[in-house]
Amino acid sequence: MQAAQKTPVSKLMIPQKHLLSIEHLSREDIINILDLSEYYVVQNRRRSQTNALLKGLVMINVFLENSTRTRLSFEMAAKRLGADVINMTIEGSSMKKGESFTDTLKTINAMRPDLFVLRHNTEGSAEAASQILDCPVMNAGDGTREHPTQALLDALTLRRHFGRLEGLNVAIVGDILHSRVAHSNLQLFKKMGVNVKCVGPAELMPLSAGGTQDMKAGLTDAEAVMVLRIQKERLQKSLSFTEEQYFDSYGLTAERLGFAKDGAVVLHPGPMNRGVEIDASIADDPKRSLITAQVEMGVAVRMACLDLLTRSAR
Ligand code: NCD
Repeated sequence: MQAAQKTPVSKLMIPQKHLLSIEHLSREDIINILDLSEYYVVQNRRRSQTNALLKGLVMINVFLENSTRTRLSFEMAAKRLGADVINMTIEGSSMKKGESFTDTLKTINAMRPDLFVLRHNTEGSAEAASQILDCPVMNAGDGTREHPTQALLDALTLRRHFGRLEGLNVAIVGDILHSRVAHSNLQLFKKMGVNVKCVGPAELMPLSAGGTQDMKAGLTDAEAVMVLRIQKERLQKSLSFTEEQYFDSYGLTAERLGFAKDGAVVLHPGPMNRGVEIDASIADDPKRSLITAQVEMGVAVRMACLDLLTRSAR
């Protein structure tokens, strides 16, 4: 467990108006968000809406790609803080009648929302939205580029388990090339002094990741293994292997987890494909899997981000 934070929650601030990427956050910003998230872990566990910080504010949640955890936890976080939430999906919107994304954003802005959350399949779309919207914009995943609140919730999960991030050894296994989760995490880990090894097949590994194709080499010394789904919806060409072959080479099984440090823990951002990137026995092992803890931390991190981004306006 994380020790009680030293800075009072009222003093925790970040200078950014929007939350678009980990790239734009400093190490201090990340620490402030994680420290405030600790406070919101407790608030969220109280179950009742004890904190009406965002009462009277309206958050518009625009998810133009599928989502379970991220969409629900943004909504839950906003509601826990007393905000009203409007959800929009592409189905049922005028984008189906040919309205452009830019015109859709201008229309939403004219309604004067207080917070705007966007998931979109195109890299840079949250930045584009932040140029049009007057209110804070939060990136809930833009194509293969960034998913900042996912990296923050992963960091919170790891920090609570190990009591630190600095010097931790983490292996990221799977589709690094197309994963916005990996891209945000790689930036966060670098800023926070986490040692990272990327593992996966060459066709799913960017050259810049300096990764290995060998599970044993990649997992040796790892204290945490982050498993990623193959982003089938983003593949430019078909893969040279089947799902069965992928599981045979890279699926995280108890035997392969044995390459890592004794007691190493497992993370997965979800959605999981059991029997493809992870074996069910590992996903469900309460001693090794932090996967449900990650989901819980997602609500706390998003509560902290909503609080921080509205502080100057309240
Ligand atoms: C991830 C995403 O959408 O990028 N999921 C999530 O937000 N928890 C990972 C994925 O879809 O594989």
